[in-house]
Amino acid sequence: MPNNLVRRLTALDAASLRQLRLDALVETPESFGSSYEEEHTLTLEDIRGWIAPLDDGAMFGVFTNGTLAGMVGVGRQRKLKMRHKAHIWSMYVAPAGRGQGLGRLLMHAAIAHAQTMRGIRQVQLSVTSNNMAAATLYASLGFAEYGREIEALCVNGELYDETLMALALTGK
Ligand SMILES: CC(C)(COP(=O)(O)OP(=O)(O)OC[C@H]1O[C@@H](n2cnc3c(N)ncnc32)[C@H](O)[C@@H]1OP(=O)(O)O)[C@@H](O)C(=O)NCCC(=O)NCCS
Repeated sequence: MPNNLVRRLTALDAASLRQLRLDALVETPESFGSSYEEEHTLTLEDIRGWIAPLDDGAMFGVFTNGTLAGMVGVGRQRKLKMRHKAHIWSMYVAPAGRGQGLGRLLMHAAIAHAQTMRGIRQVQLSVTSNNMAAATLYASLGFAEYGREIEALCVNGELYDETLMALALTGK
């Protein structure tokens, strides 16, 4: 029985996170706005910057028997007029861990963190429109589609639409 643990990532996780992020960009390039070509030169210092303990964001990892098996980021929009919105990014579970509830655990952690961020009224994300696994997960958590960007990504010459989804947070 695998032992799965979700926790906030710290600077000590930078090397594992860097490797998982690059693996993700290679394995499912159409799932991310960024690319391996843009990120393989990032240093551990750059990655530590992503996971620095900020009030306005966090990265979570799921560890299976101590190995980083998945990741997700959540962050507040920076612009003054958009600071009531958070966004989810870098959602990924390595292939061996899929279908075992790890993605759901990561999303619960990211949403719970957004709920602790003062004044956040909604959490937004975008998902490649043909990504049924991710879209089904998000819909099951209450995310609803609010728009669609046609031909949002061009990956290896192929065009992909993106579905824009949001989860309203209540009681803030
Ligand atoms: C999308 C992804 C994160 C899901 O992670 P996961 O750990 O396999 O998901 P879980 O096992 O927690 O499943 C949670 C829910 O997602 C949905 N889901 C997961 N895999 C699915 C599939 N292949 N088909 C349809 N729905 C699926 C189901 O609703 C599932 O709930 P259920 O088990 O109660 O039916 C994972 O497939 C992944 O990393 N894919 C590649 C990268 C990616 O697409 N990232 C998202 C970018 S927006």
